[in-house]
Amino acid sequence: MKEKLQKIKEEATAAINDVNADLEQIRIKYLGKKGELTSVLRGMGQLSAEERPIVGQIANEVRAYIEEQLASLVEKQKAAATAKKLAAEKIDVTVPGTASSVGKLHPLTKIQREMENIFLNMGFTIAEGPEVEYDYYNFQALNIPENHPARDTQDTFYISDNVLLRSQTSPVQVRTMEKQAPPIRVISPGRVYRSDAVDATHSPLFHQLEGLVVDKGITMGDLKGTLALFAQTMFGSETKIRFRPHHFPFTEPSAEVDVSCFVCGGKGCRLCKGEGWIEILGAGMVHPEVLRNCNIDPDEYSGFAFGMGIERIAMLSYKIDDMRMLYENDIRFLSQF
Ligand code: DAH
Repeated sequence: MKEKLQKIKEEATAAINDVNADLEQIRIKYLGKKGELTSVLRGMGQLSAEERPIVGQIANEVRAYIEEQLASLVEKQKAAATAKKLAAEKIDVTVPGTASSVGKLHPLTKIQREMENIFLNMGFTIAEGPEVEYDYYNFQALNIPENHPARDTQDTFYISDNVLLRSQTSPVQVRTMEKQAPPIRVISPGRVYRSDAVDATHSPLFHQLEGLVVDKGITMGDLKGTLALFAQTMFGSETKIRFRPHHFPFTEPSAEVDVSCFVCGGKGCRLCKGEGWIEILGAGMVHPEVLRNCNIDPDEYSGFAFGMGIERIAMLSYKIDDMRMLYENDIRFLSQF
């Protein structure tokens, strides 16, 4: 019987030392109710009274030994599993990382925000209007009645006889004055549409930024000061502005405004085509008829307005000579800004 116990001990040890040992099966096989050790103990009745305690002690020792071995194997297996997991999750902080490419703003968006910020800093707020607009707001309220020749230069896309894609941001002037009593100081950037063929300087969809100020005692001097500050902030502190008489139906007097060429400083170069000046916008004093259309008394209030193309400002600022580049979404072009 002692030999039997010794054998059980040896076999169990061998089983436990097997790396792939299934602990639960070993436990059942040797220590379980129908296990080998139990069956030996059952046979103890046949032993003599002297032998019984000795064999009993050995049996207990063997049981304790196997239990101990099993327990230490459980620990070993746990440790091995943890080590394996750690090895698999190991991060080598010295390995060079894969660079992730960060997106950036489209040059038009950048310029628009830059322009907006200049005016926001002067106390303007941003007003918005619909791109799908009534003929009334886009033309009639701005003193451009049906059949007025000014409509020819702003041919656009019609949804119906009196609904169109706005050809300018100027309708936001009317919408703002209808909603808000003076003092008014707003800019309105956004998309506009014209039925133009695509070329280096034209696109059926482009962007404008409109400005409107209405209050008591607003003069052309306020318009000049505002635009001069804009030009100097946008193109450099040396920049001068120049007003040339022009005609817009919704302003009187009206002007086209040039900035001194910020490349040659006015001497004449390729950018300004030898002129020394670059046209950037249209402006003027809000026409009394437009004020009246919005229920503002022109005898009490006056105002100025201006409108400029955002593409044009972007092309000048970034020296882009073909407008189509701005819409082709070529990453080689866009990543330069
Ligand atoms: N809306 C004009 C255009 O698209 C630009 C313009 C000129 C806007 C004079 C104005 C303005 O507000 O006063 O050609």
